[in-house]
Amino acid sequence: MIVLGIESTAHTASVGIVGENAEVLGLASDMYRPAAGGIHPREAANHHVELLPGLVARALEAAHLRPREIDAVAFAQGPGLGPCLRAGATVARMLALTWERPLVPVNHCVAHIEIARVLSGLDDPLLLYASGGNTQVVAYGAGRYRVLGETLDVGIGNFLDKLWIAMGGTFPGGPALEAEAKLGHELIPLPYSVHGMDVAFSGMLTATLGLYAQGVPRPDLAHSVEVTAYSMLTEITERALAHRRRTSVVLGGGVACNERLRGMVRAMAEGQGGTSFAPPKSLCVDNGAMIAWTGALAFGAGRVVPVSASRVEPRQRTDLVEAPWRLPPAG
Ligand code: ATP
Ligand code: FE2
Repeated sequence: MIVLGIESTAHTASVGIVGENAEVLGLASDMYRPAAGGIHPREAANHHVELLPGLVARALEAAHLRPREIDAVAFAQGPGLGPCLRAGATVARMLALTWERPLVPVNHCVAHIEIARVLSGLDDPLLLYASGGNTQVVAYGAGRYRVLGETLDVGIGNFLDKLWIAMGGTFPGGPALEAEAKLGHELIPLPYSVHGMDVAFSGMLTATLGLYAQGVPRPDLAHSVEVTAYSMLTEITERALAHRRRTSVVLGGGVACNERLRGMVRAMAEGQGGTSFAPPKSLCVDNGAMIAWTGALAFGAGRVVPVSASRVEPRQRTDLVEAPWRLPPAG
């Protein structure tokens, strides 16, 4: 089975094509980068509408496939920015109708999780999903992915982006802050906000910007933010491993590109006698291949939707959707 997936929830328009075993046959992406400030939803949606048809052609070309060889079309149904979601869904509906193929809606968060899980080779790992809008420790249980702990305010990536932009940088902030942090050495105390299994970042944002305004060097602040924020994530992940009596963890989402976060979680998991895994960076950030792969799983479980009933769900949380492909076979 070969599935084409369309991602358009926020900044990235992407088309991926995957095969039976999650092998990525074709992937073509383009990120909308605002000239200044954060994402403007309407502008991002226009970017996606303009680029998606060409990205479909490029992905097919890279995969050496013709449309008739595609078995199903998957799209990111939510969560995300309404105008961006509608742009991707419209292109997916059009392809499903012209190619006469089933249409499969996919939750974007579950897609980050499923691509990381299949590449890890681990059947039932604990997952740390750290991205722009989300920061969740997740485990599968009774038909869906359960959120064991999460951010109480903004997602860690949005926090890093906002901070970097306020310190004079441009979007996306996470990778730039990672480079800047390598130049810093001094560890400056910042609010460390862990509440049971949850975390919060707004106190650290305010404190860091206050210190920056007082003239504290940006590299030292970047270093301290990374150490503090990623320690918080590592702590709740370690606690979840203990509660769930697990030792191995899989990372997903754009912030899982970060080498320091990868290293801290790896050291923690190895300390528990387990392992950690993170996908290649191109599959941590938003991409169409994760939508295609989760679409393949959902299609296998019969989750198709008529074009007339397909809709986007801007607020569709990880734990609001079922993952029927994970249920044990009936009988
Ligand atoms: P969500 O999945 O919650 O909807 P999203 O789809 O907007 O969020 P992703 O593409 O999954 O976002 O992740 C993008 C985020 O990852 C951005 O906030 C970006 O700054 C961050 N990011 C990317 N690379 C790195 C890195 N090397 N270090 C830290 N953060 C990074
Ligand atoms: Fe994402």
